[in-house]
Amino acid sequence: GKPLVVAIDGPSGSGKSSISREVARRLRANYLDTGAMYRAVTIACMRAGIDLTDAVAVEAATRNADIELSTSPDAEWVLVGGEDVTQAIREPEVSSNVSAVATTLGARAELVRRQQQLIKDSGLRIVAEGRDITTVVAPTAEVRILLTASEEARLRRRGVQLGGSQSAAALREQVLTRDVKDSTVVNFQQAADGVVTVDSSDLDFEETVQAVLDVVFAST
Ligand code: C5P
Repeated sequence: GKPLVVAIDGPSGSGKSSISREVARRLRANYLDTGAMYRAVTIACMRAGIDLTDAVAVEAATRNADIELSTSPDAEWVLVGGEDVTQAIREPEVSSNVSAVATTLGARAELVRRQQQLIKDSGLRIVAEGRDITTVVAPTAEVRILLTASEEARLRRRGVQLGGSQSAAALREQVLTRDVKDSTVVNFQQAADGVVTVDSSDLDFEETVQAVLDVVFAST
């Protein structure tokens, strides 16, 4: 078939992952969660006792990292060195360390290369999501979307996702601090030229999926 690369960026709590996965299913396309790759490298570094502020060491660890991940929207798994880390990469400790990897430019360069290869390997039928997909990883994608949501909506969704186990202050600190750190190296708050913004603040899950699919069908 024709190439259909759908690039979706957005901040944490925008619903990016669950929306992108469902859009991939409906399009019968592959799915790439690039955040899972940053998280996998973070776990690899933590387990190897690497100082996350040491850019040279983090870059080397990223180049050496043996990461495999599912590109099917129907199967979620991530392996580091052959070990299943699907659950482990979602732990709060990983979430609070991941920005250190994401702000190491050499680590980004390596992961961008791998992501571009995975997109090619998909036969160019893929929904890829992250922070720099519309701008760096796949700037020539057929469809480029920035999925945003108000701060209030993002905090509410993350809270529900974590089962209400965190105080409002802790949640706020986690979600917003990570975005501030990430923003120092990638701009996912404003849409780049040619990128369509979908604001999900007042949309439920199905409405957001439809809004994204509308953009896909309008631009292809
Ligand atoms: O999407 P998720 O919250 O799982 O991403 C985890 C982290 O990975 C982000 O906070 C960010 O530091 C990093 N990331 C990135 N570029 C991407 C995807 C994720 O820097 N394309």
